[in-house]
Amino acid sequence: DLPARVRIYEVGARDGLQNEKAEVPTEVKAEFIRRLADAGLTTIEATSFVHPKWVPQLADAEQLFPQVGDLDVELPVLVPNQRGLDRALALGARRIAVFASATESFAKANLNRTLDESLAVFAPVVRQAKDAGVHVRGYVSMCFGDPWEGAVPLHQVARVCTALRDMGCDELSLGDTIGVATPGHVLGLLALLNEEGVPTNTIGVHFHDTYGQALANTYAALEHGVTTVDASAGGLGGCPYAKSATGNLATEDLVWMLHGLGIETGVDLGRLTATSVWMAEQLGRPSPSRTVRALSHK
Ligand code: HMG
Ligand code: MG
Repeated sequence: DLPARVRIYEVGARDGLQNEKAEVPTEVKAEFIRRLADAGLTTIEATSFVHPKWVPQLADAEQLFPQVGDLDVELPVLVPNQRGLDRALALGARRIAVFASATESFAKANLNRTLDESLAVFAPVVRQAKDAGVHVRGYVSMCFGDPWEGAVPLHQVARVCTALRDMGCDELSLGDTIGVATPGHVLGLLALLNEEGVPTNTIGVHFHDTYGQALANTYAALEHGVTTVDASAGGLGGCPYAKSATGNLATEDLVWMLHGLGIETGVDLGRLTATSVWMAEQLGRPSPSRTVRALSHK
């Protein structure tokens, strides 16, 4: 059975912008987030408290976060370590996300640590956040394939997922960082996670659309009972530390499918599309989202 309502976890301002070459002024990012909230999105990942040299595009997190803090929406932020948590808590963040990898290669490329070292960094961060009443998401990247290692065994993904859950993460997000997953693969991982005692209602899915499979994968996950879906307005996105990671599932494409299925999202598709068209003008290139292109065609 399909769910009656889906929670869209909007990542455009973070996953979308982190990979942009063009310098996006802080005010434009704040305006982007405001417009996303105005379009009805209620969970909007705002930025990352990572090392500014690793992700220069998000180096203005301290300036940006206070500019949107008044919005009546959830504003999770990425935190890679204790220093990131300290920075986020100092600004009053109420939701954080740590980000692990299912593979050694990406743990090294993205966090400069082995997989187990990165989990050891996260454990006290998650504990301290939980003690402060902060909601914690645990991302797992490269769940379905890795650009250096190729296929990723499901049990390896499950090990990282259960480690994050055991640390106290409130929710998980299964990342198909390079967009290679297909629906049967998604169902296989979800079934294994359930066997390992991870409830479906704590699992979100995070698809990139490299091979055009993001919506098919999403539909499979919905049929399995997943109700949290990550997406990026206009299909912005990619990870600077993963070869061949292209845009995320576009929020507009997701909303088009969900509304077509009679599933509620709370999103006004017209306003959202207008926001992505506006953002594309700021970035100087058209949105890759098929739905944005179709709805904005004059
Ligand atoms: P490192 O170089 O190993 O850091 O990087 P370190 O712990 O050795 O510290 C070195 C210096 O950096 C120190 O300064 C620290 O204070 C400073 P010094 O004492 O030398 O003056 N430092 C920091 N400064 C500010 N904020 C911090 C911070 N941490 C240390 N948080 C580190 C390790 C984790 C910091 C680095 O690798 C990093 O920032 N990585 C972030 C990479 C990233 O953001 N990737 C994109 C997000 S993940 C993604 O996109 C995937 C996802 O979308 C899901 C999917 O699609 O799969 C989520
Ligand atoms: Mg991503």
